[in-house]
Amino acid sequence: MRKKIVAGNWKMNKTLQEGVALATELKDILAAEKPNCEVIIGTPFIHLATLSELLKDSVIAVSAENCANKASGAYTGEVSAAMVKSTGAEYVILGHSERREYYHETPEILKEKVDLALENGLKVIFCIGESEAERDNNQQEAVCKAELAGSVFHLTPEQWKNIVIAYEPIWAIGTGKTATAEQAEEIHAYIRKCVAEVYGAEMADETSILYGGSCKASNAPELFSKPDIDGGLIGGASLKAPDFKGIIDAWK
Ligand code: PGA
Repeated sequence: MRKKIVAGNWKMNKTLQEGVALATELKDILAAEKPNCEVIIGTPFIHLATLSELLKDSVIAVSAENCANKASGAYTGEVSAAMVKSTGAEYVILGHSERREYYHETPEILKEKVDLALENGLKVIFCIGESEAERDNNQQEAVCKAELAGSVFHLTPEQWKNIVIAYEPIWAIGTGKTATAEQAEEIHAYIRKCVAEVYGAEMADETSILYGGSCKASNAPELFSKPDIDGGLIGGASLKAPDFKGIIDAWK
């Protein structure tokens, strides 16, 4: 059975102290009431070491939101996959549409990041998804397939076991517009079919595919009830413990 996952993506929010407070609140809530899914929080680099230590005996795993496409050296301001791993973080989010758009991360750059993350023992939450204009032109399938082919379909089957896919339609991120459960299920099933074409049906069946884009406690139960939706990647609603817990509870 593939893993059910609820992953937070704090983006560029929370000072160190605010992050510690939120993670502590979540840790306490989930210690009192065990989740029925894997719980991950994706945080800015500054939180990784502190939160990995704070959460080491908890059910919550820690993820970075980025890593460099170079192994080490004279790249001022960058943070390598090895450095992320050394904090105790288990995951890294790569391919987020905000990084593709604002920081010009191309499929080639993302492929380098994915390779380095896996080489350094991190698991990758790899994000894909179409823009509003692409959806209007019915290009969502082609866009998702090309993003997978461009950055992750070169991986070996052994490496693929450490990949989680997050489908995040750009038009639904932070906009309050969620894909309907039917729209999301349709493309999730298509993504699983693409994975099956490369890695076979059995591995595709083991691949967790998360939905992201204005996912909240009120719409998570319907989204997560679909057969190919294995959880969510949560932005805004991961910034308050009760909101995030409400989404985790969708697996109850
Ligand atoms: P949102 O962000 O939940 O705030 O729409 C999701 C994401 O970008 O991962």
